Amino acid sequence: MVPLLLQQLTGTLALAVFTAALGSLQYGYSLGVINAPQKVIENYYGRTLGVWSERAVVLSENSTEEEEYPEAGQHPAVIMYWSLSVAIFSIGGMLSSFLVGYVGDLRGRVKGMLMVNVLAVAAGLLMGLCKMWKPHIMVISGRAVMGFYCGLTSGLVPMYIGEIAPKAYRGALGTLHQLAIVIGILVSQVLGLDFILGNDAMWPLMLGLSGAPAVLQSLLLPLCPESPRYLYIVQGKEQEARKSKRSVMSEGEYDPTPDLEEMRREKEEADKEPRVSIISLIRSSVYRQQLVVALMMHLSQQFSGINAIFYYSTAIFTRAGVGQPVYATIGVGVINTIFTMVSVALVDKAGRRTLTLVGLGGMCCCAIGMTVGLKLQGDYPWMSYVSMSAIFLFVSFFEIGPGPIPWFIVAELFSQGPRPAAIALAGCCNWTSNFIIGMTFPYIQTWLDSYVFILFAGLLFGFTVFIYLRVPETKGKSFEEIAAVFQKGRKKLEQGTKDATELQELKTSTDA
Ligand code: GLC
Repeated sequence: MVPLLLQQLTGTLALAVFTAALGSLQYGYSLGVINAPQKVIENYYGRTLGVWSERAVVLSENSTEEEEYPEAGQHPAVIMYWSLSVAIFSIGGMLSSFLVGYVGDLRGRVKGMLMVNVLAVAAGLLMGLCKMWKPHIMVISGRAVMGFYCGLTSGLVPMYIGEIAPKAYRGALGTLHQLAIVIGILVSQVLGLDFILGNDAMWPLMLGLSGAPAVLQSLLLPLCPESPRYLYIVQGKEQEARKSKRSVMSEGEYDPTPDLEEMRREKEEADKEPRVSIISLIRSSVYRQQLVVALMMHLSQQFSGINAIFYYSTAIFTRAGVGQPVYATIGVGVINTIFTMVSVALVDKAGRRTLTLVGLGGMCCCAIGMTVGLKLQGDYPWMSYVSMSAIFLFVSFFEIGPGPIPWFIVAELFSQGPRPAAIALAGCCNWTSNFIIGMTFPYIQTWLDSYVFILFAGLLFGFTVFIYLRVPETKGKSFEEIAAVFQKGRKKLEQGTKDATELQELKTSTDA
């Protein structure tokens, strides 16, 4: 599949997808960048706040003087500023994900991505130059702005790729968003090693680098074609849409007429209804089923517990008895990247539904494996290998389907009218649940101890059943065909309700 895809890709399509995915790379890098240098940054905060110093620790070891905080990270002020530096990123993302539809429709997808890059560069500068003023304030502001940027980009990128990709490769190209995210996470894990950038002198550069891909993206975006669906359906520019469509398909045999015909019908539909806002999307019964599926896909991605692994992997590996937890964490990053590539190759063959089901089901079994491993590790030392293999397999199953698919399936489930609002809502749901897991996992872990992953196993089982019962396959279908599947489902449901009401009425009249 991949070689065939490579043959059919035009240079312009490759450039467009690569350029857009630089935004996803930045998102992944920002997700991972804060993990490795935690201690170094906490110490720096402690020193600049004047609440901690290495000297005091050394003194206290040699004298009778009591040192209350042997580590800066234990001081309440440092804990507060550090937690804010981590969490404000998700808060920024939650807020801005609502604006995805507005930004995407304002001047188009390409100009939208270009405009928001100002935020990424500003955030990079705030963090990179943080030693020049109060570092904790500079880092917190930079992370907030970066989160705001990432909330926008995590919606704009899949929207653009989904609209520009030829139908047969929509899955593979859509998965590239996730591939870039995981590469970003891996790069941040490697750069975070203490002999590279995760040290006292270099950590501001490490944080500041999160803005770098935006500079390259800003140079390349003007060379990318605008989404043909935006041009035709939103702006009514048929000729420009035709030109854009031609630029992304191989020369020669491609005839844009059927694609334009499909867009024309979609435009007709879109013109019939007023602009679908987020509120009207939530209220409308017409899109209810698609919306439930879209939100559940995102909830299953986050409540699978994947970020419990990513945020706390070093601690989890230490607990599982692994000697070099930092390298095991990088191992997770590598496996993560490899299996996302497997998904790129499989998704347009095996289909979204199958891969999501296999992924969630596999993760459920691995969560049970992790629990057994953690529980019995005290009795049998070899159980730490069971926990470790279960963690690696958990991540692999995630990347086969539940990781990449939710990001692009929302663009597939909705037609042009409600698409921006749906992507905004799904993005907000993703960011909010990510934030909830990030904040609550340490508490849940203290509460459930070795049984912590049983909770995720239960949730994963529930999501697998939901996907099995409610999610149709979207592989290779046009946006129109996908909408028709849901319409049929809705008619059946309405018919069911009507039949039930009629039956009830009949029953009441017979009883009377
Ligand atoms: C997905 C998730 C993100 C997670 C990543 C791990 O992109 O949205 O929260 O960290 O996968 O690969």
